[in-house]
Amino acid sequence: MSLSQRPRRNRKSETVRSFHRETWLSPQHLMSPLFIHDASTDEDIVSMPGCKRLSPESVLREIEASLKVGIESFVFFPATPEALKTSEGEESFNANGLVQQTLRSVKQRFPEATLVTDVALDPYSSDGHDGIVAPDGTILNDETVAVLCKQAVSQAEAGADIIAPSDMMDGRIGAIRQSLDEAGFSNVSILSYTAKYASAFYGPFRDALDSAPKSGDKKTYQMDPANAREALRELQLDEEEGADMVMVKPAGAYLDVISLLRENTALPVAAYQVSGEYAMLKAACQNGWLSEEKVVPESLMAIRRAGADIILTYFAKQMATWMKDGTVHCG
Ligand code: PBG
Repeated sequence: MSLSQRPRRNRKSETVRSFHRETWLSPQHLMSPLFIHDASTDEDIVSMPGCKRLSPESVLREIEASLKVGIESFVFFPATPEALKTSEGEESFNANGLVQQTLRSVKQRFPEATLVTDVALDPYSSDGHDGIVAPDGTILNDETVAVLCKQAVSQAEAGADIIAPSDMMDGRIGAIRQSLDEAGFSNVSILSYTAKYASAFYGPFRDALDSAPKSGDKKTYQMDPANAREALRELQLDEEEGADMVMVKPAGAYLDVISLLRENTALPVAAYQVSGEYAMLKAACQNGWLSEEKVVPESLMAIRRAGADIILTYFAKQMATWMKDGTVHCG
């Protein structure tokens, strides 16, 4: 054939390919979500092979090991005993609650780590919802926001560097910003779950925390998976209300939304590769149907290519370990 263009010439060797590689990934882009519980031993999470509910001591060990491979930010999710769950989730702002205690012990031991906290009531709610449930089943917005503000301030007091509201109540970013500022925490950042979808991919996470809704679903507050334009509306509100960073969740099935936010904001964009995405990849790899050290980097690179600056992923430590020992090269 007489071709003037042969794109394959630009793919002929690793060196030539690396000349024009557009996307790169390094441990600094990864944030590690950790499940914690108040018990002396760790507990496996069946639907998330390789992830555990960590004891307070194991959390420190996990963070130490992660820091060694370059993972520097962590977000904590507490499994709360049923006895501490209430309809208004008061345990969420207990100064001696599990998250608050964990923040203090991690900060003291590893001051260099960046600690992120999730703001929502579901781990503490006897109804398993992110907000307060009225007798008729409605999720109360403004009453919930008042509790979320107390939760955020209590996390900041315990040492959180970044507060990440995942509840999807209206007006919570502005209200939390104001509460943090009034309490003297103008330096604490807000990473908003801006476009958080009502997704079935959260199933294993709800197993991990035993936090599934007792009735109904989350469709009156989380976004409809059919929608992208609505993400722009949430983005605009979060920016006006003072969010420092915005997030899309889940990640893999919502790459178009990541790219949409990337094109429409100057703020850093985060994406959350959620529990169901982890479980799918892990299950296929454990069966030998996919190769873990190939498919995990590809899944993360795709999320970066779509426009995410930061990725929350349960593969964070594993991925950073592979990059460090040379198993995986990411640009
Ligand atoms: C709680 C919250 C959820 C996740 C993060 N924060 C679950 C939910 O909204 O039901 C899911 C994370 C994951 O699936 O990995 N508001």
